[in-house]
Amino acid sequence: MPLKRTHTCGELRASHVGLPVTLCGWVHSSRDHGGVIFIDLRDRYGKTQVVFNPTHCQAAHDAAERFRSEWVIAVHGTVRHRPEGMVNPKMATGEIEVMVDEVDLLNEAATPPFEIDDTIDVASETRLRYRYLDLRRPARQRALVFRSDCFRVIRSYFAERRFVDVETPLLTKSTPEGARDYLVPSRVNPGSFYALPQSPQLFKQILMIAGLDRYVQIAKCLRDEDLRADRQPEFTQLDVEMSFIDEEDIYRLIDGLMSEIMEKTVGRKIETPIRRLTYQQAMDRYGTDKPDLRFGLEFVDIADIAAASQFRVFSETIKGGGQVRGFNAKGGAKYTRSQLDRELPEWLAQFGAKGLAWIKVQPPDSTRQEAVVGGGSVPRAEQEKTRGAEAPPTAGPNPQLVSSIVKFFSPEQQAELAKRMGAEAGDLLVFIAGTPPVVAASLDELRRRMARDLGLIPPDAFAFCWVTDFPLFEWNAEEKRPDPRHHPFTSPRPQDLPFLEERPLEVLARAYDIVLNGTEIGGGSIRIHRSDVQQRVFRLLNIGDDEARMKFGFLLDALAYGAPPHGGIALGLDRIVMLLLGLDSIREVIAFPKTQRALDLMSGAPSPVSEKQLAELGIRVVV
Ligand code: AMO
Ligand code: AMP
Repeated sequence: MPLKRTHTCGELRASHVGLPVTLCGWVHSSRDHGGVIFIDLRDRYGKTQVVFNPTHCQAAHDAAERFRSEWVIAVHGTVRHRPEGMVNPKMATGEIEVMVDEVDLLNEAATPPFEIDDTIDVASETRLRYRYLDLRRPARQRALVFRSDCFRVIRSYFAERRFVDVETPLLTKSTPEGARDYLVPSRVNPGSFYALPQSPQLFKQILMIAGLDRYVQIAKCLRDEDLRADRQPEFTQLDVEMSFIDEEDIYRLIDGLMSEIMEKTVGRKIETPIRRLTYQQAMDRYGTDKPDLRFGLEFVDIADIAAASQFRVFSETIKGGGQVRGFNAKGGAKYTRSQLDRELPEWLAQFGAKGLAWIKVQPPDSTRQEAVVGGGSVPRAEQEKTRGAEAPPTAGPNPQLVSSIVKFFSPEQQAELAKRMGAEAGDLLVFIAGTPPVVAASLDELRRRMARDLGLIPPDAFAFCWVTDFPLFEWNAEEKRPDPRHHPFTSPRPQDLPFLEERPLEVLARAYDIVLNGTEIGGGSIRIHRSDVQQRVFRLLNIGDDEARMKFGFLLDALAYGAPPHGGIALGLDRIVMLLLGLDSIREVIAFPKTQRALDLMSGAPSPVSEKQLAELGIRVVV
């Protein structure tokens, strides 16, 4: 009779002592101590020490001598206390061991290319090629189990609220999320292609028109785009759509969902309603539409002080229609001069910044000496230029502000700067002058970097926010026309409809994103449900009637048959699971992810296909 498992490798405790048990699993490690063999047997639930003593059972001991890492075995034996001094408090099963009297070798294993151990660093290529071995590691398994727990919470949350879970097709027409499509050739319609869905967007709207009222789906989405740590070509959305609702219904639903997920998976309460910022507020205060609110360092606009100052870089920027903004890097006075004058500006150049202006805030006594040292950092030419214009103060009379640029600010201006930025001893005030996009992008990067450098990000913090009132369009300079920021079915605010054609870039959308710790975890909108408005938007986007018909004809037809007002959202589940686990790549929470180059190293996809397959599809490969 083959041995049949009675317990897992994670569950035996002192209370089981004396019990006959059968465990199955993988040989994690094997040690021979003076003829007695100790094996740590591993399965998904943990590890248990099993003992092969020749005086107890010679046959089992002889078999165990051959066992190597990752062989699969079943052992039968009796649970006993570990001897005095051998208890391992770090192991859940560390108080006991199993004295083996029977063993089955279930399977041998080739020597694995790496040890199954969370603490060992293995090149990611190797891990992906041997994903089945990588997935044996406890941390990988924990991530998949956690993901599955999240999905269960989500499914019951929506079931309790009478949402209908509907599957939408994978073989479909191109959908409008703005990435490239993955195409699938049709054998029975040579020359025609399906597109894999970038999202179920069109279908969920159709389901509202069909009267389903509340739709939910955990849906695979496919986008052929450049990959990053938080982007995979295949990813999973929690996709939602509802009829007869407005933005508030979406916020309430998702606030409730997020607090339920947080409570039931990581045991954390979050404050609801989740904080909201308009797009404009987010850009003004953080320079990004996905602000990380785990820490402060909010931007401060100093255009008025900059314009009135003697610092040419600032005053000229304002004169030229630019911005001067900065933030108080709390506790940042410890940055060295070479970091502030060389390292950081050089790094910031990639985001377009032409320099970094800074002021250290020091306790009064250390100031005088520093201020003299500080005089030298502005290049002589700049000093001369400025002197030529008007005699500036040579050193900051406000004893607390220390920097190469304070001399260009009057005592009143310095006092106002310090007040506006909440400057305290030990702080560092940083400023960037430039065009609005450059100031936003570079200050955003600098803010996040300094928060990390200065240890201002509390570990285990989860900071959610909604970003609302996005512009409906963004300017496509190449094509000289507006592009939808979201997708072309997003509704403009009704009050903005009158100037849709005249001032499209001022039109705000009924669109929203939800952000967690600086990552966009979801986005959606209230949709256009009237054909006339939809046509006006298409016209603005330069999508002609024929093109619109060809691309989205079925949705346009459906809109004409009594479409209810509706809207929805999609959450990126891979990103949410990643963030809740404190990981920094969604690959860690996807069972079979792809590489940066969209390769599946385990299966070898994508790969060439046979001539016969190509011929059947009517396809000739030219590369
Ligand atoms: P959107 O394109 O904003 O909206 O996608 C919604 C969310 O999906 C996640 N996401 C991704 N995650 C991993 N890899 C990717 N390549 C990837 N792309 C997007 C993000 C994002 O916030 N149909 C609309 C939703 C709607 O309007 O209801 C849509 O797909 O977390
Ligand atoms: P410069 O005259 O360009 O050498 O700059 C003098 C000081 O101003 C240096 O500390 C620069 O880093 C800083 N600076 C230059 N350009 C900018 C800018 N666009 N924004 C903020 N600081 C700047």
